This record gives sequence, C-alpha cells and structure tokens, in this order.
Amino acid sequence: MVSLLISHISHLECPQCRRKHSPDTLATYCICGSPLFVIYDLIGVQEDLARDEFPSDMNSMWRYSQLLPVRSPSCVVSLGEGWTPLLLSRRLGKHIGLRMLRIKDEAQNPTMSFKDRGLSAAISRHLELGAKTFALPSAGNAAVSACAYAAAAGLKAHIFMPDDTPEPFFEQCEMYGAITTRVKGTISEAGKVMRDKNEDWTDLSTTKEPYRVEGKKTLGFEICEQMGWSVPDAIVCPTGGGTAIIGIWKAFDELESVGLIGPERPRMYAAQSGGCAPIVHAIEKGIDEIEDWVNGETEALGLRVPSPFASRLILSAIRNSNGGAVAVAEQEIRPTRKTAARLEGLDFCPEAAVGICGLRNLIESGRIDYDEDVVLINTGSGARYTNLK
Ligand SMILES: Cc1ncc(COP(=O)(O)O)c(C=O)c1O
Ligand SMILES: [Zn+2]
Repeated sequence: MVSLLISHISHLECPQCRRKHSPDTLATYCICGSPLFVIYDLIGVQEDLARDEFPSDMNSMWRYSQLLPVRSPSCVVSLGEGWTPLLLSRRLGKHIGLRMLRIKDEAQNPTMSFKDRGLSAAISRHLELGAKTFALPSAGNAAVSACAYAAAAGLKAHIFMPDDTPEPFFEQCEMYGAITTRVKGTISEAGKVMRDKNEDWTDLSTTKEPYRVEGKKTLGFEICEQMGWSVPDAIVCPTGGGTAIIGIWKAFDELESVGLIGPERPRMYAAQSGGCAPIVHAIEKGIDEIEDWVNGETEALGLRVPSPFASRLILSAIRNSNGGAVAVAEQEIRPTRKTAARLEGLDFCPEAAVGICGLRNLIESGRIDYDEDVVLINTGSGARYTNLK
C-alpha cells in the first residue's frame, strides 16, 4: 500500500468535443471517438503543494499522487515504477553531435519498460472502479507489464500478441499467470481478435481508456523535477501508439497550472522506423488525421502501430510544441543499438535505437543544435528482443 496524499481527480473530459464524463464509472473513450483526458482540481493541488512539496522520500511515480487518478491509497498497485534516472550521457551524445544529452532510462522500471507507469496507473484505477479481468493487445512490453500488475492486483489478464513477438515476452506473461493468444499480423489484428471475443473484461488498449496516459505523464513530471523544475529544449520519444508523447505533453500544462514551471515548452519529436511511419507521414503531409500504414514492418516492435487511435492528440502535441517527426532507415536499428550500448553501457531497446538514429538525423539536418539540452527516452530494455540477437 502506498501511504500518500489524496488524488485531486475531478472529472474526465474529451479534448475534442469538450463533453464531460463522470470519473467514477468504468471508462473507455468519448462517444465522438476521441480518447478522454483526466482533469484535476489544480487549485486543490496548488494548495497542497504550498503546504508540502512532492514527497522526496518516495522513489516511484506515486510521489505525484495528487495528480494521479487513484482516490484510495489502498488501491494503488505499485511495484516501484518510475523515478528512473535522468542520466547524463558520457559518450553517445558527443558521438552523434551534441554537447549534452540526457537519457531517461526507462529500462530501470520493474518489468524493464516505460509501460509500467501506464499500467500501474490504469490497473490501480480500474481496480478501484471494480474491474475484475483485463484484456490487452500488445507488441510485447505492455503485455508483460499488464500481466505483472494484474498479478499484483490479484486479477486475471488476457493478452493478444502478434505471433512473431519474441518468445521471452510470451514466457514472462505466462509466468505471471496470464492467458496469452498468438495472432497473425500486427497489434491492429491482435486488437481485432480481442474485440471479436467481446468478453466481459476491462479493455486496456492504448488510449482506449484514460488512465494509462496518466501514468505515462509522470515521465514529464520527472524530467522537469530532475532538471530543477525546468524543461529541456527538446525531447526525442520513440512513438507508436502515442501514450508517452501525449502524456508528457499533458504533464507540462498541469505543472504550469500549479506554478512549478513557466510557459516554456520543449519541442517534442516522435521517432519512427521508415518501415512503419504513419505519424511522420501525417506530419510531413500536414494532415489532421493519421492515415493507416499498410503492411507496416519493423524490428522495433513497439513502433509497429499502423493506425494509432489517438491520432489527433499525437499530431497536436507535436505541432503545438513546434517539434516534428522523424523516420529512420530500418537497417540502421541493429548497428545503432550495438554502437550505443558500447558507448554508453546501456542495453537500449530497438525502439530507443530508432530514437537515437532519429536524433542524429535531427542534428544532421539542423533541426536540433549542438548546444541544445536534449532528453532521449530509452523506453525499455533490449533484453527480451531475442529476434535481434
Ligand atoms: C519499448 C517501446 N518503446 C516505445 C513504444 C511506443 O509507445 P507509445 O505508446 O508511447 O507510443 C513501445 C510500445 O509498445 C515500446 O514497447
Ligand atoms: Zn468527444
């Protein structure tokens, strides 16, 4: 149990049609088709913070529980996720042409990826709302994470993963007692198979419920807190379904509203593989909706998301930040992983290797300068990607 301050959750609101929804029923997405956002009583949070800062002795993302959606501390299912180090790169940054690179090392989460933040928040909140069983289509990391948190909550998880997902992902899900289904195709097909089954479970699909984004948001809180309540010039985020980029962007508005940062914002860059780059395509074409990417293929499995559900929110975060999206050549992923591991001593996942290549492209094309303060997110460990060994 996390002994902590109380959530200031107020309601759910649709960022597209502005409809308000009750926060205390099992939530999915808005009837207009947009994901829902959790809105907080930010004046209440500010009053709390005037009395006391975020607890410095709490080394997990739950240090921000006033700005997280779980009302009862007894419902918080925590394995110690978040509060990961913001490492100063010793050699990789210089190698790709930056004076200073910071790496937010999400491999140091309990199940070795940033998915733990979202799934700790979502499983805790749905447990509080009465969920009994969870279901999730996943490219791998989210599945392992969901299974671990469902196990910790004492609940069952049903996982639907592409059949070419490396075996360690299946093995770990099964170790946590989950029921796994192998599906031919990408995460989109896995989602279809899951929805066709239509059982009475809580659907944790990316951005189809409001709480995973809330957990991911703590990445933005931590980056600012670890930089002395300031923001970097740019953040490079390997992006598939978009929970991280949406969550981090939401975090800045909340921090500004409670007076912890000013109006300055980092430029947000989404990195994708050229083998599946629907976000890059939409940004380059200047369109408002992401178009389906046909036959998407990449070794960075978490980025093989041909049609992200939160299309508009991803594009508006990137555009409002004056950032961008960058595609990298598929054949660069493996050599970059190796070079980066040898320069930095970190086992970057292939998705993070896409981020590193993307960052190098942004520097080479003059969109990021040598002197800028850049945060790269290592979204997870490479250890389970036996397909790349
Ligand atoms: C390691 C890794 N990086 C990045 C992503 C993309 O996540 P997001 O939903 O935040 O775009 C995933 C998703 O599966 C992943 O597993
Ligand atoms: Zn709506």
